[in-house]
Amino acid sequence: MTILVTGGAGFIGSNFVLDWLAQSDEPVINLDKLTYAGNLENLASLQGDARHIFVQGDIGDTTLLPELLAKHQPRAVINFAAESHVDRSIHGPGAFVQNNIVGTFNLLESVRAWWAAQPQDRQGDFRFLHVSTDEIYGSLAKGEPAFTESHPHEPNSPYSASKAASDHLVRAWHHTYGLPVLTTNCSNNYGPYHFPEKLIPLMIVNALAGKPLPVYGDGQQIRDWLYVKDHCSAIRRVLQAGKVGETYNIGGWNEKPNIDIVRIICQLLDTLQPRADGKPYVDQMTFVADRPGHDRRYAIDASKIERELGWKPAETFETGIAKTVAWYLANQDWVAHVQSGAYRDWLQTQYGAKA
Ligand code: NAD
Ligand code: DAU
Repeated sequence: MTILVTGGAGFIGSNFVLDWLAQSDEPVINLDKLTYAGNLENLASLQGDARHIFVQGDIGDTTLLPELLAKHQPRAVINFAAESHVDRSIHGPGAFVQNNIVGTFNLLESVRAWWAAQPQDRQGDFRFLHVSTDEIYGSLAKGEPAFTESHPHEPNSPYSASKAASDHLVRAWHHTYGLPVLTTNCSNNYGPYHFPEKLIPLMIVNALAGKPLPVYGDGQQIRDWLYVKDHCSAIRRVLQAGKVGETYNIGGWNEKPNIDIVRIICQLLDTLQPRADGKPYVDQMTFVADRPGHDRRYAIDASKIERELGWKPAETFETGIAKTVAWYLANQDWVAHVQSGAYRDWLQTQYGAKA
C-alpha cells in the first residue's frame, strides 16, 4: 500500500508527509514541482528514509502521471499542489489558473484513466482527496453564521476563484465518472515551515529582523486559524472515514482580527526574545495599503467533521501560536535559507512601494 501526495514540499504538504511517516510505515510518493514555495529542506529529516520517494514534477504532466500511477499503484492521491498566496494571485493570476485549474484538470484525467483500468475492488477502495480552502465561500459580514459545506461558492480573489474551479472539477469527476473523491475546505493554517510571505511567519521573521510589521488596511479583517498539524490529522481522518463525494469543512473555531494576531506574536516575542533596546515589538507595527478586494471575514463551521468523523482540533490558538513562535526562534537557519533568491525579489515587488 502506498499513497501519492502532491505538493508535499510546501507548507502543509511537508507537515502532512512528516506526520504521516511518524505514524505509519505506508510509503509516500511525493510529487512536487518545487515552485518558490516548495522547499525540500522541510523534509530533511526524511533523508535516506526509503518510505519517502520524492519526484520533482508537475501535477499537470500527462506523461509523468500515468507512469507514476502505473509504477506505484497508490491507494489514494492527496492533492495539496497549488499556488496558494492571495497577494501573488493579484499580481499574477496566470500561474493560478495554470497550476490550480489546468493542473487539477490534468491530474484528474490522469488519475481517472488509470483508475478506470483497475479491478473493481481496487476502484472502490481508491480515494482522490482534494485539499481546498474556506476562501472559496467568499467573505462574511460580522455576525453572519460561519460557512457550512452548503454555503454557496462566492470566491473573490484570483486565488480563491482558481481553488473554487478546482473544487468544481473534482466534484464533477465524481458525479460524471464515479471517481471516488473527497474534498476538504480548511481555514488559515499556521505552524512550522510556513513560508514567510504569509501573515504569521512574516510577522515573526520581520519582528526579529527589526523590520516593519505591515498590517493591511485597518487590520480588522478576521480569519479562523488552525494549527497545521490539526489540519493534517483532519485530512488523515477524512481519508480514513470520509464519505465518498462529500466535502468536509475543517477549522479551528478560532476567529481573530489580524491586528490581534500581530499583537499576540509581538507579546510572545517580548517574552521569549526581548528587543535589545527593551522596547516592545509592537512598535514595529505599521499600517499599509489594503489588499485589493480584501475579504473581510472568514469563519468555518466545522461541526460536520466533528459530528460525522469525530475530529476536532487538538491545539488552541494559544498553544499553537506559542509552539509556532518557538519553532521560528529555533529554526532561524531555515528562515535564512528561505530568504534568498525569489523570495527577496518577491518582498520587493509586494512591499517595496508600501512599507
Ligand atoms: P504552499 O504554497 O506552501 O505549497 C504548495 C506546494 O505545491 C509547493 O511545494 C509547490 O512547489 C507545489 N506545487 C505548486 N504547483 C504545483 C504543480 N503544478 N505541480 C506540482 N506541485 C506544485 O501551499 P500550502 O499553504 O502548503 O497549501 C497547500 C494546499 O492547501 C493548497 O492547495 C492550498 O490551496 C490549500 N490550503 C492552504 C491553506 C493555508 O492556510 N495555507 C488553508 C486551506 C487550504
Ligand atoms: O483561508 C485559507 C487561506 O489562508 C488559504 O487558502 C491560503 O492559501 C492562505 O494563504 C491563507 O490566505 P490569507 O490571504 O487569509 O492568508 P495571508 O497570510 O496572506 O493573510 C492573512 C490575513 O492577513 C489577510 O487578511 C491579509 C493580512 N495580511 C497579510 C500579509 C501577508 C496583512 O495584514 N499583512 C501582510 O503582510
